Amino acid sequence: MKSSISGFYKHTVEERQSIIKKLADLTDAEQNILKNFGYFNPDELDAYTENVIGSFQLPFSLATNFLINENEYLIPMVTEEPSIVAAASNAARFARKYGGFRCEPVKSIMIGQIQIVKIEEEQIIEISQFINFEKKKLLDLANSCDEKLISLGGGARDIIVRQIKTIKGPMVILHVLIDVLDAMGANAVNTMVEALANYLEDKIPGMIMLKIISNLSIHRMAKCSAIFDTEMLGGPEIVSNIMNAYAFAQADPFRATTHNKGIMNGISALALATGNDTRALEAGAHAFASYNSKTGSYSSLSKYWVDHQGRLCGELELPMPIATIGNIIQNHPMTRIAFKILQVSKAEELAQIAVAVGLAQNIAALRALASEGIQKGHMKLHNKKLGNKS
Ligand code: HMG
Repeated sequence: MKSSISGFYKHTVEERQSIIKKLADLTDAEQNILKNFGYFNPDELDAYTENVIGSFQLPFSLATNFLINENEYLIPMVTEEPSIVAAASNAARFARKYGGFRCEPVKSIMIGQIQIVKIEEEQIIEISQFINFEKKKLLDLANSCDEKLISLGGGARDIIVRQIKTIKGPMVILHVLIDVLDAMGANAVNTMVEALANYLEDKIPGMIMLKIISNLSIHRMAKCSAIFDTEMLGGPEIVSNIMNAYAFAQADPFRATTHNKGIMNGISALALATGNDTRALEAGAHAFASYNSKTGSYSSLSKYWVDHQGRLCGELELPMPIATIGNIIQNHPMTRIAFKILQVSKAEELAQIAVAVGLAQNIAALRALASEGIQKGHMKLHNKKLGNKS
């Protein structure tokens, strides 16, 4: 089959379907599946992205039992993987006895980066002095790009000057800190850093290159903790085994990757259900697992310890650029239902829910791994989905 199809995007969705039917030799039944757009019409879907030929459905589920900052939540999740929703619902029960998940306030500050290259070591101070001297003017200029954000109380807050050593010599990296409120913020941030770069171009030494958001959003952190019921976990021996599992993830990047994948099972499922950017969340989480590591390499995002009463305590902290406003978030019929079920309108509250879901997902997997093994629960549900009762 040829893949070089110039102007594929210029066709209507129906025309693209006819082209692909011929190219991939689709049957009439397969063509009919492509023509089923569910609650969308083809033009709506075509407006979201490019070269659309159909609609792709996944299960929309609810995890139960979540008590977060004393509020009850049903958690919408979109995932294809059996046992994720059951595991989250199961683990949310373990935390209820001691008040559920407690989450800290979350600021919505994103970082926009401006890269300055072709500089000598001695020019770094010159750039730094210029930025500090002109900071108010620069922040005002950035803020003039987004009157709506400013009117709602957000906007550029600070500019930090960093130096890095690279294979192409020293570089200065400006970090523009921007409060994006309830948005994910990529558009606001990218617009502001491009405007600042234009202004700075002939005023500082060197050459300005990239101007782009950073997904390692260390100023938009979500943090939660919980105490888990020992009996529900399976007793003190299981608690001790869970601590061994945690120590393994903390010390070994091979294990930490899977441990953190388990955390993101829940967070990405919630992010998809609410129309959020799962790639930004995943990238930020995994980068933070290295950036924040006390061991010097990629490590566990969560922490566990046993308190003086022998109870297992857990904590999770990670960047959380999750939003409650944005095109898909506000306009997709399923995300609108997700937000109605969640009863959430502020990004801060959604970030707190997301980090709690991540911790629940993690303790569910650790409990299973430290007791009967993952396959029993996972395969029970996997087989059930396949209609196989054996
Ligand atoms: P169980 O003890 O057999 O469950 O656990 P149960 O029948 O006693 O029910 C307890 C609760 O679990 C229920 O409470 C439900 O909340 C929930 P109830 O509603 O009865 O009051 N529950 C379900 N919810 C929805 N549908 C169901 C269902 N069954 C129970 N069918 C369970 C069974 C699967 C929950 C347990 O074995 C478990 O939590 N396993 C962990 C599974 C897991 O973590 N899966 C993630 C995918 S594997 C992976 O990718 C990540 C990993 O690699 C990460 C890592 O390595 O760290 C593991």
